[in-house]
Parts: sequence; structure tokens; C-alpha cells
Amino acid sequence: MSYYFLCNDDISYDGNIKDHDSVFIGVGNYGWFQALYEAIVVGNKFKSLTALDSNPSQLEFFKKVYNYILKSNTREEFIGNLFCGVFVNDKLTVDVDKFRAIYGLNAYIHKYGVVIDDDNLVGGFSKYIASPLSMKLKRSEGLYVFSAGYNHHFLSSDDSFNAFKVAINNIPINIIEQPIEKCIQSALLDDMYLHNVVWVSNLFSKYFMDKNTKLTEVYNLMESYSIQVAPKFPEMRITIMRDQRKKIAISESFGNSYRIMSVHTKAFYKVAKYMIGKNNVEVTNVQRWINNQKGISKLNRCVMMHPKEFKSSAMLFDTVVFHILVGHGMVKKDFLLLCKIACNKCKRLIILEHNSESPDFKGKNIGLSSSELSSLSPIKQEFVGGVSCSDRNHVFVIKGDK
Ligand SMILES: C[S@@+](CC[C@H](N)C(=O)[O-])C[C@H]1O[C@@H](n2cnc3c(N)ncnc32)[C@H](O)[C@@H]1O
Repeated sequence: MSYYFLCNDDISYDGNIKDHDSVFIGVGNYGWFQALYEAIVVGNKFKSLTALDSNPSQLEFFKKVYNYILKSNTREEFIGNLFCGVFVNDKLTVDVDKFRAIYGLNAYIHKYGVVIDDDNLVGGFSKYIASPLSMKLKRSEGLYVFSAGYNHHFLSSDDSFNAFKVAINNIPINIIEQPIEKCIQSALLDDMYLHNVVWVSNLFSKYFMDKNTKLTEVYNLMESYSIQVAPKFPEMRITIMRDQRKKIAISESFGNSYRIMSVHTKAFYKVAKYMIGKNNVEVTNVQRWINNQKGISKLNRCVMMHPKEFKSSAMLFDTVVFHILVGHGMVKKDFLLLCKIACNKCKRLIILEHNSESPDFKGKNIGLSSSELSSLSPIKQEFVGGVSCSDRNHVFVIKGDK
């Protein structure tokens, strides 16, 4: 099966969420790199990257581009590697035999780059121009122009190229060879308390949605995750990045940092950003919650345990989360003892607890004060708000001994 060499999508970031706790998921065409760059430039920081595509050949090309970025010292060298030639001062020479051998595409030289002429092309046409330059030139001699975007996006300057190279080199990447309709739900749920930036190219255009009705289900799923509020979960923050040429209307909840969500989810957002590792436990003394959720936490990669079970368990954990234990009746002395036990079982302990000094609990002897908790020497200490006050709960992060 053939694939798209380069890209003719028009790409910009039009959400208002800029978050240091984000993940990037996108279809694996060349535009993935350009969209990621735009999402980074506005201020998002990514903890993980995912490229998914139903077309294995597209992902093979994706891996080549990824490796060319990492091994090239300059953006000119990158373009030279990409086109199997040399690119200096906006002039490209192509070793077309090497190009055909490396990419498995029938190609010949053209004044703008190469013409790719292949009956097996995907997307309803069999011939197009692939060029390093000319993002603006969408058509020439009756052919579409697919551009590498030199002078744009991550190739805007040598500095932008180098910064992008450092960024992708330092973020773990996951490649999924599956249609988006098969994998998007688990990809989103995997990091439901992080801001998910999803690059969809032009998959949500009429052309693709008519061809594949499952794409409407993908859109509806993402929309419900980004609109719904408890008791419907998850309540997510999702920014959709899409080809801007025939920009289809999408819900205003996408990319909106002010979307409404429950106090519960806001608290879990704060907790989740401090969680480390994949083997985690939420400790709660509300047995009903454990029963209702069949022992599976709403936090990611996390089981639930009652303090009694947790105390007697021989298991070790990456992160232990205490979910409002004193606020639900545990006496302070037992709580402090349990903190010690937890530190012996984990790399990190996160305490979510009612703040006894907040307007919600002052004078009611509910929860703990900052000074009561500070004996635990937290490495991080924050408040998370409720409906009526911004310091309803503490989030304390403690270094574990394991
Ligand atoms: C929708 S196509 C459009 C091509 C785009 N205009 C460009 O210039 O690259 C973008 C990417 O989506 C991939 N794709 C198409 N249908 C898909 C699906 N159901 N799931 C995942 N990826 C899909 C294609 O293989 C391609 O890599």
C-alpha cells in the first residue's frame, strides 16, 4: 500500500489550553510533526507522544522522518536527507534512484522537487509534486503540491529545528498501527487527567467521514469526553488540531481551558500530575467506593484498597494516593502511622486531604491543617479548590523510601 509523502494540510493551533501536563496523539502523516511543533510553540509541554495510523506504510515513512530529524544537524541537512539528496540555499538536488529505493515510490525530478507518480497512491489521486518549499503553492500544472514546509513550523529557522529535535528526543513516543476508531478510546483514557492534544489531519472532513462512518463515532466520543460533567466520566480537556483548509465546525468545548468540570475531577487532575510509574494504589476508607468501582481507581494505572488491606499487603507501589482519609473518619494518629507505612512501600506518596482551615471546614474539626501535614516534609504542597473556596483540599507530595 502506498502512503502520503509529505503533506498538504494547513496547520495551526487554535485552542486556548497551554498546559505543562499534556500528551500528544495524532495520525502519523508528515503533518504530525508540524502540528506537534505548533502545539509546543504556544506553550504546551508533552509527557508522551503517540503516532497512530491505519496504514503501516505511512508509519514506516513516519519513522524515517522521525529519524532524519534526530540525525540531521541543520534543517537544510534534514531536507537533503528527506529527499535523498542535497539542499543548500533553497536549491535541491535529488538522487532519484535512491529516492525510489528508499521510499518504494515511483518518482521523477521536477523543478519544485519530485513528482510522485504511483497508481497505488491513497487519497483518490495518483500523481503529485513533493517539494521542500512552497506551503502556499497548493497546485501547480494541475497537480497538488505536498510540501515539507521549509521556512515553516519546525523548519522555520535553525533554532526552531534544533529546539524541536531536542523536544522529540526527550519525550517517549508510542507508535500504534491501528485505525483511530479502534484505538482512540484507550489512548484517551490512558491519560484522562492530562490535556490531550489530538491531531486528526483532515479525517473529520466530509470526504473522509462519508467514506468511513466510524469517524463520526470517533468525533462523538471525543466530544462527549470534553463536554460531559460528573456523574458522567471521564471529564477531559481535549484540543483537536485539524487541517484548516476546509475547517469543519467542532464543539466549543474542545481546546477550551474554561470547560466546566466537577470538583472531584479537578482534584484528580492535580493528583495525577504528580503520579509516577504504572503500579499505583488509591487508598480510601469508603468501602462503598471500592465496591462500586470493583477495586479499579478512576486514577490511571491504579487499583483501590481499604487502609486495612493496604497495611497488610506485601505489595510495593510506584505511587500511593491517600484519598481524604482523615476527612472520612480516620483518626490523626492512625493517619500519621499509615503515612510512615506507605513511605516504606512506595516511591511517592500523594495525600489528598480536606483542609481543616478552609472556609468549608473551619471550626468543624474536619480534615487536617497545613502545619499538621508539614511534619511529613512534602516535596510539593498545593491546594485544590471546591465549589465555594479555592483551598478546600490539600495535595501533599511526599518522597517514598522505595
Ligand atoms: C486523512 S489523511 C490526509 C492526508 C493529508 N491531507 C496529508 O496531506 O497528509 C491523513 C492520515 O490519516 C491516515 N488515516 C486515514 N484513515 C485513518 C483511520 N481510520 N485511522 C487512522 N489513520 C487514518 C492516513 O493514512 C494518513 O496518514
